[in-house]
Amino acid sequence: MDLGLSRRTYLVTGGTRGIGLATARLLLEEGASVMIAARTAESIEKATADLGEHPQVGFVQADLRHPDGGSTAVAATVDRFGALEGVVNNAAAFSIDRDHPDRAAWTGLFELKLLGYEAVMQAAIGHMNGGGSFVNISGIASMRYHPRSPHVSAMNAAVQALSMHYAAQLSTRRIRVNTVVPGVTATDRYERRIAHLSQQKGLDLADAKKALDDTVPLGRPADPVELASTIVFLLSDRSASTTGATVVVDGGTVIFPEAAYVGSES
Ligand SMILES: NC(=O)c1ccc[n+]([C@@H]2O[C@H](COP(=O)([O-])OP(=O)(O)OC[C@H]3O[C@@H](n4cnc5c(N)ncnc54)[C@H](OP(=O)(O)O)[C@@H]3O)[C@@H](O)[C@H]2O)c1
Repeated sequence: MDLGLSRRTYLVTGGTRGIGLATARLLLEEGASVMIAARTAESIEKATADLGEHPQVGFVQADLRHPDGGSTAVAATVDRFGALEGVVNNAAAFSIDRDHPDRAAWTGLFELKLLGYEAVMQAAIGHMNGGGSFVNISGIASMRYHPRSPHVSAMNAAVQALSMHYAAQLSTRRIRVNTVVPGVTATDRYERRIAHLSQQKGLDLADAKKALDDTVPLGRPADPVELASTIVFLLSDRSASTTGATVVVDGGTVIFPEAAYVGSES
């Protein structure tokens, strides 16, 4: 299926690894130009090596918790490629919470996942005069109980509310806004959760992996490419009638109340 993305430009925040990197890679395969934003030079260096020499990819170092981070990332995209047809708001920082989150944990997540996403959208909208598509990445913590992560649940739910707000506000400008909700996904954080579970419950790594995989009705984590495929579809005109939607990619976790929660995640 030709998604019609060649000659289009996308910004992927947090695109240096995990779901963001898989999305950037898929967009490049589809012929699009991609600007990847991340906080650290180290992760940018690693992603540059992972993607190899590619004329249609650019990188910008921007801390999206900072008030100017969103405008910096968008300006770098337009400066480099001269256009912007869509954004994947995906950047997040993962922590394994042992206690109830303190104020700094709430603030950090609020600044990155809510104010950060909002700032990128505000900076990008003015460049989308021919229409466009935003995909905001949330997480299943928004839809189920997480004993030590009320901040993660609340901020991810707020991402969905933010998307719906902008979907309504921007519909007459042919700008669509959707949310993708990952469940357990095989990124770095999956490995860290297994290590944490193993320590916490005194399990060997194979048993900890099984305990985590057993929380997913389909019995395994999603591959980041499976998230990327959903995201790229929502960026493309193949989903031209979809806006304000929340698309869950979680192996069935939220619809099975008996799928037990284990360990922490965001
Ligand atoms: N993986 C899962 O199981 C899972 C589950 C539920 C929801 N999610 C959601 O899916 C999205 C992607 O998750 P992931 O696991 O693929 O992410 P990840 O591997 O942890 O990568 C996070 C990305 O965000 C960047 N980043 C972090 N803080 C930043 C900041 N202040 N400014 C700019 N960039 C920043 C990182 O770059 P630097 O290292 O350079 O900062 C990196 O590129 C997130 O929104 C996450 O909440 C994931």
